Amino acid sequence: MSRFVNQRVGALTPYVPGEQPQDRSYIKLNTNESPFPPSEAVAAAVAGEVDRLQLYSDPDCRALHRAAADYYGLEPEQILMTNGSDEILNFAFMAFGGPDRPFAFPTVTYGFYPVFAALNGVPCRQIPLTADLRVDPADYRGLGCNVVLANPNAPTGLAVTVDDVAAIAAANPNHVVVVDEAYIDFGGQTCLPLLAQYDNLLITRTFSKSFSLAGARLGFGMGHPDLIRDLNTVKFSTNPYNVNRMTMAAGQAALATADYYMDHCRQVAATRETTKAALREMGFTVTDSLANFLFAAHPAVGGAALYEQLKQRGILVRHFAQPAIENYNRITVGTNAQMQALLAALADILQGV
Ligand SMILES: Cc1ncc(COP(=O)(O)O)c(C=O)c1O
Repeated sequence: MSRFVNQRVGALTPYVPGEQPQDRSYIKLNTNESPFPPSEAVAAAVAGEVDRLQLYSDPDCRALHRAAADYYGLEPEQILMTNGSDEILNFAFMAFGGPDRPFAFPTVTYGFYPVFAALNGVPCRQIPLTADLRVDPADYRGLGCNVVLANPNAPTGLAVTVDDVAAIAAANPNHVVVVDEAYIDFGGQTCLPLLAQYDNLLITRTFSKSFSLAGARLGFGMGHPDLIRDLNTVKFSTNPYNVNRMTMAAGQAALATADYYMDHCRQVAATRETTKAALREMGFTVTDSLANFLFAAHPAVGGAALYEQLKQRGILVRHFAQPAIENYNRITVGTNAQMQALLAALADILQGV
């Protein structure tokens, strides 16, 4: 730390992203990326932007906002594209949080929420999960503060219903309820229909998972035009060209070929279910995840030890050293072949305990 750093940044514990190892090739099941490449239309669209890279991208992102509005049945004024969904989430903390405007979220959830809160000087109200790792919607009614819920939640994969979210939005009418739908295309019910009814609801999405574009960095928020205007104020006060030309083109081409991606999402969901059944056969406790990952613990081997032993066998999963979930590992659902390799490695490990 330098002697120049301010108090807030000096005190910050940054988010630790999942490993992106460059030393050897792993079966990478640790950051919930898609095992499938982008569509050919995306490759062509990105290539088509190269000879225009001397020009800034459209700061209003008009063509992509129009395409997303058409795809999701909204108006362009209800959408804001960002540099990954991490950016729209940070914008939400910046725009709606404050020293006297806390954000509530579960103790076990996406690890970036407390970091965004600390970065922006926003107090957190962290609410424990139930004993079976679920979000209890009743805990979020009438809190009198902003709320952010990942739905399905990460790393458990467990979801609440649209009715649950509606009740939370209705019970906190003077605060923003952010629903992070990063994993919604793999299962779960989207809260999009609630946007017509609740002006305090912000839904965030990402192209990183279901649209195979983690490396392009594209996410977005959907909500009432007034909420989107506030988030735009933050965007135009920080980085007006937050989405680059190649990524904008990739996003449009991805939406134009959405069937290709939704087919892959169905494949991932099917692989998730067969892998879950196989894990349970082996004695694992596995949550009923609706996301593109599984969350599993085994009574005979601790979470950290299992992570290490899989890594030694060339398979990367994600372990969180957090008391409530330290026996678990989060395992991204890959191809069927990758899952077979995982199950074989697990059988080998369990034989040795
Ligand atoms: C729940 C959740 N929200 C948001 C994100 C951020 O995704 P991105 O910034 O790649 O859009 C992630 C990434 O893993 C996530 O798990």
